[in-house]
Amino acid sequence: LPEWSLPLCGCLLTTMDFDTESIEYAKQFPVEDTDVFVATFPKSGTTWMQHILSLVLNGGDLTPINTIPNWDRVPWMGSKRLAEIADQLKSPRALATHLLFAKMPPSFHTSKAKVIYVMRNPKDVLVSSYYFHQMACFLDNPRTFDEFFDNFLEGKVLYGKWTDHVKSWRRAGLEDRIMYITYEEMAQDLPASIRRVSDFLCCNLSEEVIQKIANSSSFKSMKANPMSNFSTVPKGHMDMDKSAFLRKGTPGDWKNHFSSEQLVRFTSVIHKELEGEDFSLPWSL
Ligand code: PPS
Repeated sequence: LPEWSLPLCGCLLTTMDFDTESIEYAKQFPVEDTDVFVATFPKSGTTWMQHILSLVLNGGDLTPINTIPNWDRVPWMGSKRLAEIADQLKSPRALATHLLFAKMPPSFHTSKAKVIYVMRNPKDVLVSSYYFHQMACFLDNPRTFDEFFDNFLEGKVLYGKWTDHVKSWRRAGLEDRIMYITYEEMAQDLPASIRRVSDFLCCNLSEEVIQKIANSSSFKSMKANPMSNFSTVPKGHMDMDKSAFLRKGTPGDWKNHFSSEQLVRFTSVIHKELEGEDFSLPWSL
């Protein structure tokens, strides 16, 4: 096992954010019907949706995103931090999770809590994850891109295989409790994506407020916001000189990294692992 990891909840979790106690706490966590979860495989646009969600649920008020760090505004299910700050959260609460659907706490499954599942082209997820492993000092050095590429396809990275995660949440059967959106859709039309989130949560926001949220959620705005750009994390945990957390923020960076052989192999493995599923991917791989 890598030194940073703990095999909990059917995957590897970082010992920095999780321990057996925090997972036990999560199992007992009383999910409320009004809770909203951002569910993602890592590096799929979690922070982006956490930011948007904070604004949508607060009618476009910028105070929370300017005063509360991301991880306390929309805390991680199962994290040590959740146990510390849960009492301070006000309804409707926003929470984040990278866990598989089946590993969500029992109270989630019996609640009416809603979920926004953000999916990103896995080729870009791999690239973003490669840089994250370089800057996150609590993770193993990813070594070469080629080595990391193989580890990603084998699921030997944070939270395991991308395909297992996507299958888990696509098969969830949550009907109108879940909304699926892609990173690419957000990149292509941010105001329309925010409108979808607002409608899904019955927030009824005006065009003016939607535009205000879009301005505050642009890559440029978030990169300049210390409550969303992770710059308050000590350098010994995240070294932004190696790579910024908000790094590039565009679809398609995989084209600068994948060899033609890797592209063929990646496509074939992902297609094979998704064979027989009754959903199709929103991008051609
Ligand atoms: S994590 O560690 O799982 O929470 O990471 P996550 O937030 O899911 O993913 C980080 C990537 O999302 C990009 N990002 C954005 N792109 C465009 N616009 C905005 N506003 C935005 N906010 C975050 C971030 O830059 C990472 O992608 P890469 O490709 O590495 O730049």
